[in-house]
Amino acid sequence: MGHVAEPAGFRAAASRFATGITVVATVDEDGAPLGMTANSFTTVSADPPTVLVSLMHGRTWQAVARSGVYSVNVLHAEDAALCAHFAGRPLLRDAPPLVPRQGFFVLPQAIAQFACEVVQSIDIADHTLFIGEVRWCRHNEGTPLTFYASRLRRGVGMEISSTESVAYPGDGWWT
Ligand SMILES: Cc1cc2nc3c(=O)[nH]c(=O)nc-3n(C[C@H](O)[C@H](O)[C@H](O)COP(=O)(O)O)c2cc1C
Repeated sequence: MGHVAEPAGFRAAASRFATGITVVATVDEDGAPLGMTANSFTTVSADPPTVLVSLMHGRTWQAVARSGVYSVNVLHAEDAALCAHFAGRPLLRDAPPLVPRQGFFVLPQAIAQFACEVVQSIDIADHTLFIGEVRWCRHNEGTPLTFYASRLRRGVGMEISSTESVAYPGDGWWT
């Protein structure tokens, strides 16, 4: 060992993995909501429903570590301003409210919400993987905001027809 990939090349390669954009929201020690933009959201397991987010040491990280709870809010295609706002760049004058719902703070306009309790935390360099069991979730129809090659995008690409795609053994994801 010893050699690691050079950071700029690593970032460029990682940017080829298309993702959605989420706002991870939680509660601080005074009971006030706060949140940050994150695209490191991943589903881990369906039974029990488990997800993870990778958060850099900062305000939201500290609040999740302290409270043991977070929500993941999947942004709508028209909410690029919220992506920037919760990434700490031009702060919107009227900050969109994170509202209390069933014991968690969530972003009401999100196209999906996952309310999570931290079941395991793994520290890696200046990040922590917060593995969360999903207490409740909801979703609605709507085009997602997406991120690819370091650019925000509206929506997803064209669907590949089932006749064109290779037959896939049913394992619960596609069937
Ligand atoms: C598209 C996008 C995705 C991001 N994803 C993450 C992420 O997964 N984890 C992370 O720690 N920061 C991520 N960030 C950066 C944080 O949103 C930013 O550092 C934020 O200000 C941290 O908030 P905090 O000060 O409350 O900790 C992302 C930023 C953008 C624009």
